[in-house]
Parts: sequence; structure tokens; C-alpha cells
Amino acid sequence: MVDTIRTLKLLGKWSANRAVGRRRPVIAVFSMTHYCNFYCPMCPFGDADKEGQIQLARRNDLTTEQWKLVFDKVARHCVWAIIEGGEPTSRPDFIELVKYLHGIKMPVTLITNCSLLHVIDLDELKKYIQFVTCSIDSTFEEPYCKVRGVTPQMYRRVMDNLRLLSKHGVPHYFNSVITKYNTQEFIDGTYFERAKELGANAVSFTFVEDRSDVDYSLLPDRQTMIEVCRSILEHIKSGRSPQVMIPSAYFEQIIEHGRGLFDECGVWKSIFVNGNGTVMVPCWKFNSPENTYSLLEHSVEEIWSAPQWDIARTCHDCEVLGCIWYSSQPVSTFARNYMRGLGKMISQKSPELAEAV
Ligand SMILES: C[S@@+](CC[C@H](N)C(=O)[O-])C[C@H]1O[C@@H](n2cnc3c(N)ncnc32)[C@H](O)[C@@H]1O
Repeated sequence: MVDTIRTLKLLGKWSANRAVGRRRPVIAVFSMTHYCNFYCPMCPFGDADKEGQIQLARRNDLTTEQWKLVFDKVARHCVWAIIEGGEPTSRPDFIELVKYLHGIKMPVTLITNCSLLHVIDLDELKKYIQFVTCSIDSTFEEPYCKVRGVTPQMYRRVMDNLRLLSKHGVPHYFNSVITKYNTQEFIDGTYFERAKELGANAVSFTFVEDRSDVDYSLLPDRQTMIEVCRSILEHIKSGRSPQVMIPSAYFEQIIEHGRGLFDECGVWKSIFVNGNGTVMVPCWKFNSPENTYSLLEHSVEEIWSAPQWDIARTCHDCEVLGCIWYSSQPVSTFARNYMRGLGKMISQKSPELAEAV
């Protein structure tokens, strides 16, 4: 159950800060570990050297107690926590940490590749989190394995685990990263049918944001992107389930301009905490020691007063990344579209918050 009073109080504080020109984060994103068991070519955590990644995680991941400290600091500002990684469910203390967040009244969305859900007590998990965002880029075996760099056995495991989520009544929706490997099911609409069959009432999309540290692009060509967008817009217009959680404007802008449009990047509205407890200001694209602050040593206020935030006022580097586009939209766009989808799902768990959004 979401603590509505806490949420409204924090939103009030956030708005009061905004009114005097002070920016503060309102959503927390915790990247719980450097380790991921998948090999997604679009993601830095997809690194093929899993042994090296395990060593890195052992050396650098925050301990259970350190994460709790970070959660406490961030909970003074943020109304919602998003847990991701790496693969967050790979941490042995995963349940302990989400239970802790629940204990400090922080609503939680878990983003996961769903490959380890069968080893988690889902009845316990659903007591502590609001939703699971299932990273289901494709509902078909071949493109899924290509985008995620995994075997057909792993695809089947994930599909089985999606059924487990439905069986245990854990609220969830699908998120797909659209790359050149998985466009067909959006163009012919089968993604929607199969997502529904797999128990998703809502779906969210982003085109892949190409990595700058590799020499390949996974973005589909312009014409294919247009076809994908047209088909998604048609589905939105039809009003059929599953509901699309991304506003039509995102897809319309990509058709017209080849990218999402925004005046000022809204990355400051979220605090993104890396697996080692650091925050990069203003974001991961400016990864250098002088832009990196440890939350173990600094307060949120100190970090949000750093001069590097100025870069974000003019940066338009993220061309198609849905979450950045989203956070950079006027509140009205956000409220009209996303909150409607979110409200629908929240109402399953907390009717009074659904009313509030
Ligand atoms: C980094 S993953 C971590 C959580 C978990 N391992 C998972 O796969 O869901 C978080 C989300 O970022 C998405 N993602 C990774 N690389 C991306 C990229 N280059 N562009 C857009 N989204 C990306 C993933 O598909 C996933 O939904």
C-alpha cells in the first residue's frame, strides 16, 4: 500500500523548491549491482566477461548496510524508487533490500530481465513492491535471443517466469527496447497480442539509445522507425489492451523529426545511484571522476548544488531514449498520458493514490 500522505508531502516540498528555482530529484533509480547474467549488446552491463563482472561487483557493489544508508538519504526527497542494475534480483540480499524500502514507505518499481523470478518468493515480493517492469524486448524467441544475447532455453525460462507473475498476482507491465532486431512484431502488431496473452495490461517502449563505447548501431533505419511508430500509434488510437504507457507525442515526434523533442533535459528530476553508491552529474554520459559524487560522503542537497548541472540545461544528446524524453516533457503531457496508465495499474493496489494521480 502506498503512503499517500508521504507522497503528497514530498511532492509539496518538491514544488515549493521548484517555485524558488531550486531543483531536487523526485524519483530515485538504484542500480543495485554491476553484475548482470544477460549479454544485451545495447547495454554496458551486457559485457561478455562475466567472471570479470562478478569480481567488479564483489569489489564495488555497496553492501546491504550501505544500500540501506543510501535509501534513507534518498527517501527524504523521492516519492518513488526504481530498482534496476545490472540484474537486481541477482543480489543475495535482494528481498531484504526491497523489504527495507517498503519499511521506509518507499513505493518500488522493480526493473528486471525476469530470468531469476522462479527462485524468488513472489508472494513475499508482492508485499514490498508496487510493480515489476519486465524487460521483454521481443515476445518471439529469435529476436528476443538476439536483443538479449541469450539462449532459447533462457527465453523459455523468462516466458515461464512471466506466467508465474500472473499466477501469483504480481502487478507488472512490459518494457521493450526497440532495436533493428525486433521491429517486425511492432509493425504487424503481434507484440501487443502476445504481451496480452503473457499477462501484460500495459506496455512501455523506447527506441534504443546507441552506446558511445562501441562501434555498432542497433537503431533501426529511419523508414522502419516510422513504420514502427505508425503501428504503435494505431494501437494507441484503437484503445485496445494492452495500454501504451508512452504518450503518442513521442512516436509522432520520431516520425516527424527522427528524434524526441524537448526544451530542457529533465534528468535532474531523478537521482540515479550507481552500484557503488556514486551519482554522475548530470548523467552517465558525463562519466569522469570530477563529475562523480559518492552518496556515502555527500548529501543529495550538496550533489544537486554542483555546478555541472548547468550542462543539462542545453544538452540534447539523448535523441530517442524514452525515459529522458519523458522526464523532459511539461508536467501536463506527463500527467495526461503516463499517469493514466500508471493510475490504472496503481488502482489494483492503492485506489486512493490512483485517485490522486
Ligand atoms: C540496464 S537494465 C537493468 C535491469 C535488468 N537487468 C533488465 O534487463 O531489465 C534496465 C533497462 O534498461 C534498458 N536498456 C539497456 N540498454 C539500453 C539502451 N541502450 N537504450 C535503451 N534502453 C536500454 C533495458 O532493456 C532495461 O529495460
